[in-house]
Amino acid sequence: MIITSINMHHFHFKGDNLYCEDCRVSDIAERVGTPVYVYSHKTLTDHFLKLKKAFRSVNPLISYSMKANANLAFVKSLVDCGAGLDIVSGGELYRAKKLRCDPKKIVYAGVGKTVREIKEAIQWGILLFNAESLAELEVIDRTARSLGRKVDVSLRVNPDVDVKTHKYVTTGKKGTKFGLDFCTARVIFARQRDFPNLRLNGVHVHIGSQILTYSPFVRAFRRLLDFVRLLERDGHKIRFIDLGGGLGIIYGKERPQTAREFARRVLPLLRRFKSARYRIIFEPGRFIAGNSGIFVTKVIYVKKANAKNFVIVDGGMNDLVRPALYGSYHEVVPLRRTRGRKILADVVGPVCESGDFFALDRMLIEPKAGDYISFFGAGAYGFSMSSNYNARPRAAEVMVKGKSFEIVRRRESYNDLVRGERIPGFLKKK
Ligand code: LLP
Repeated sequence: MIITSINMHHFHFKGDNLYCEDCRVSDIAERVGTPVYVYSHKTLTDHFLKLKKAFRSVNPLISYSMKANANLAFVKSLVDCGAGLDIVSGGELYRAKKLRCDPKKIVYAGVGKTVREIKEAIQWGILLFNAESLAELEVIDRTARSLGRKVDVSLRVNPDVDVKTHKYVTTGKKGTKFGLDFCTARVIFARQRDFPNLRLNGVHVHIGSQILTYSPFVRAFRRLLDFVRLLERDGHKIRFIDLGGGLGIIYGKERPQTAREFARRVLPLLRRFKSARYRIIFEPGRFIAGNSGIFVTKVIYVKKANAKNFVIVDGGMNDLVRPALYGSYHEVVPLRRTRGRKILADVVGPVCESGDFFALDRMLIEPKAGDYISFFGAGAYGFSMSSNYNARPRAAEVMVKGKSFEIVRRRESYNDLVRGERIPGFLKKK
């Protein structure tokens, strides 16, 4: 068991029991049932504050990327610390509104914003759209005109940098659907007058996710900032410089840059952009959310077959899809330390797919039915990517703060599964 770096999170053993802050996680599992996501409020807010502190000299807007984990309590914890939000859908906007997040701290990204979504965002008065195509600019302009408003818009550029991460989460390379090449972006900026209801006054870049070293960021930011200088020489006024998210975290043996190391490399690039004329924006998701949550399951069976051991737990790929989708690693941590025989096993869920696994070929103390097993690093892209596949109600979510814990999303019921469905009239008639 690795239970990585000391300051990284507030999940640790006291004696033989795993605690989240000052709560014994098995007490939560007993009270709330499993599977359950458990979040540490302190870990969450600490990560936000670490980034904020590292960049305080440029006073950036740190807009937490809600797609990582959009639970209302989770997001509120960050908004209360001063975070803004990076949204990508009308649904995320709805959540932001529910929390009364200051609209002037909300940035809106995504390649496929619909007219309805754009309209709602303008009406709510968000800070900035990060637009990705000419066609989208036309729609934002038209929608703003119909509402009698003028809106700030950044163009997302694709800096064509290579990033060593999973190909599904690489977004800053030529050939992905994201952003515009510099040439096209410059031509669009030159057409500013065609969009009387837009203030085209920002640039945006996001090169991918789970990036462990500063070098691709530095390469991308250099290209972006050179582009800003070029636009300024062309006579454009640039106000927003959105540097995206993408900072990697520790799941297993990674040694990613810390917020301070990242800032040490990036701040010198921003020297010229320190004045109040510019608003620097970051959109981290995983860095803030990832290590602040674990996913807790209960062992249903231990099965020995085909010369292999399988530990079958009550959570499935519908709850935490990252291993199935990206082959990603999550540390397996039983809630209680025990002594005993070690086995080599796959830890799998009950879903009817061979891709339904959490961990392959791990050495574990042989568990028994009823034992609790958790998966670390599940705070980001865990619950937010969960589904009802195999008609499985989604797991409960719990937030811990010090000695107390509360359910922040109740476990779904079977009734939730069929909510909204109906038998059509032509099937009722016999
Ligand atoms: N900004 C934009 C425009 C993005 O597309 C994303 C993530 C972020 C910010 C936040 O990136 P982060 O700081 O979390 O790396 N489901 C995948 C990750 C998908 C990331 C999508 N975009 C996973 O579980 O690894």
